[in-house]
Amino acid sequence: MFELYLDTANVEHVARFNACLPLKGVTTNPSIVARYGIGLNQALSQIESIIGTGARFHAQVVSQSVDGMVEEAKRIHELPFDMVIKIPATEKGLTAIKLIKDQKITVLATAIYSAQQGFFAALCGADYLAPYVNRIDTMGADGIGVVADLQLLIKQHHLNSKLLPASFKNTQQVMDVLKLGVDAITLPYDVAVEMFAHPAVQPTIDKFNSDWREVFGDKLSFES
Ligand code: E4P
Repeated sequence: MFELYLDTANVEHVARFNACLPLKGVTTNPSIVARYGIGLNQALSQIESIIGTGARFHAQVVSQSVDGMVEEAKRIHELPFDMVIKIPATEKGLTAIKLIKDQKITVLATAIYSAQQGFFAALCGADYLAPYVNRIDTMGADGIGVVADLQLLIKQHHLNSKLLPASFKNTQQVMDVLKLGVDAITLPYDVAVEMFAHPAVQPTIDKFNSDWREVFGDKLSFES
């Protein structure tokens, strides 16, 4: 089943889109949590009260050493939420992922800028892979191409990692990864807003309503 996340720790943003979309949960990174300023525990608790106990949360370790990442992952895993531990897909990060996976903790390999980096993380047992589409594009490379290559490698080698592309700046990037058939995406708030935005929609609805009112006034459909 496709998993839709918001890339935020902002409770109002979650409330807005949880009302109109089947949100699976939220993804965060240290910058996002720091920006919101209330800490992970309080933010997740507030967000879970909106989405419900089925909410899944992705939170990143800030430790730099392998031992530190493993220990921090265990502590995040013990939080009273459905947690996915985000570990950067570096040499140290992959070392930590192998150790963390021995303990059956769910892991997302993050900060993926190349297919080879994501492939190695998948081989190490990462449950999710987060290629950074817009950040790759911004560097003059091909973010969608990295996602497509990773999808091919996962399929060819029968790996279990789910693709959860992140870092979007426009809806075209989102549509391009959706067309590839990825397992999940995480949307920044601004891009989620844009997903609904088309200049033709509201004028179309306004015309329907004015045509109706000319004939039936304030009557509702079932009253006509
Ligand atoms: C998700 O794993 C990343 O932390 C996040 O999506 C990065 O997005 P940005 O490039 O918009 O900061």
